[in-house]
Amino acid sequence: MKLSQADFQERRDRLAEQMGPNSIAIIATSPEVMRNRDADYKFRADSSFFYLTGFAEPEAVVVIETDETCESYVYSVFCRERNRDMEIWNGYRAGIDGVIDDYDADEAYAIDLLDEEIIEKLLNKQKLYYRIGQRADFDARVSAWIKEADEQQRRGNGGPAEIIQLDRIVDEMRLHKSTQEIELMQIASNISAEAHTHAMQKVRPDMMEYALEAELVYIFGQNGCVPSYNSIVGGGANGCILHYVENNKPLKDGDLVLIDAACEYEFYASDITRTFPVNGKFSPEQKALYQIILHAQIAAIDSIQIGNSYKEPHHVAVRIMVQGLLDLGIMQGDIEQIIESESYRQFYMHGTGHWLGMDVHDVGSYKHGTEWRTYEQGMVVTVEPGLYIAPDDETVDVKWRGIGIRIEDDVVATVNGPLVLTKNVVKSIEDIEALMA
Ligand code: GLY
Ligand code: MN
Ligand code: MN
Repeated sequence: MKLSQADFQERRDRLAEQMGPNSIAIIATSPEVMRNRDADYKFRADSSFFYLTGFAEPEAVVVIETDETCESYVYSVFCRERNRDMEIWNGYRAGIDGVIDDYDADEAYAIDLLDEEIIEKLLNKQKLYYRIGQRADFDARVSAWIKEADEQQRRGNGGPAEIIQLDRIVDEMRLHKSTQEIELMQIASNISAEAHTHAMQKVRPDMMEYALEAELVYIFGQNGCVPSYNSIVGGGANGCILHYVENNKPLKDGDLVLIDAACEYEFYASDITRTFPVNGKFSPEQKALYQIILHAQIAAIDSIQIGNSYKEPHHVAVRIMVQGLLDLGIMQGDIEQIIESESYRQFYMHGTGHWLGMDVHDVGSYKHGTEWRTYEQGMVVTVEPGLYIAPDDETVDVKWRGIGIRIEDDVVATVNGPLVLTKNVVKSIEDIEALMA
């Protein structure tokens, strides 16, 4: 499944409507980034840029200009021109005609003409919508354009009177996913779930963490996908390192392995964590901790109801995990006092979820003013509680040390209750052990 040009146009329509009359929006894609000499990171378009255009080439800027009545707008694309030599070396380009014919641009220009053409477009506009603070180099160009527009019309209106953060509008649009966007996220989730299932079946004691990572990435690649973030494959105590990406140690018999890895499909991300025994059987300690986290995670998912606070899953998960740690004797004291003082952070030091969409840590505000916002139809959030007992934590019995467990699923808030996109990969102890047997 792929979005059509009509879908991208509908998004531009909604943006233009919110911009008001006589306004201009300037949106640049991401810069290409060099990895090391003569070798670039694979280009990935900026998410908001792609959201509004469906155009995935580098070196592109789009401009949306509303008219006096806001009844129509002009959509211009600045892009790379077609060039036979460059295309032989670096691949196909849509070019000026291509963005008009295939991407529905009203006007198209060579990207090299941006500095020249943009001044005319800025003159006498009321508001400029632009994402300030993302790219210092582009911010400097925009400042120079505004200055030049003002200078060109000393006696007239010059450049825009107001500059407004474009993200306030686009981020809010992106936060609420359409049925089609959820379908794309479901596909990404299904592929990632298949990769985790495959990893559970492939893992063996003494395998290297990177070899297990390769099994996941193999499934992503077979489905035309790339990872939506750097894969975390941590055996034993490496599971206690939240952003462990070295993945270069052997997986040991008797240890758990924590995998936080997932792919993006058609620019939409998934984000899954599973933790399972390298030898296929949980030890009693691993089982006891795992069961607490699973219980917390399932209850947290159930709390994703329209109208509940964004923070509700966190509160639910923390309470269950603290009670579990008290029951196991890993923590001592009063549950209310532990929650109030956040002393549980010794074992649970991150939040329980984040918005998910085109970016793995997706855009969208978490608060309205000082208040946490509430779940609305089509918001997608991760639910990822975990417990991490540091290998050198002398405050706990040695038998618990070096166990790191996280369980993460992707959930859509809907009027019919939480919809779990990532349910295709098992997470109960019985189901994991059965799959790995
Ligand atoms: N994989 C990144 C995260 O879980 O936030
Ligand atoms: Mn996550
Ligand atoms: Mn994750």
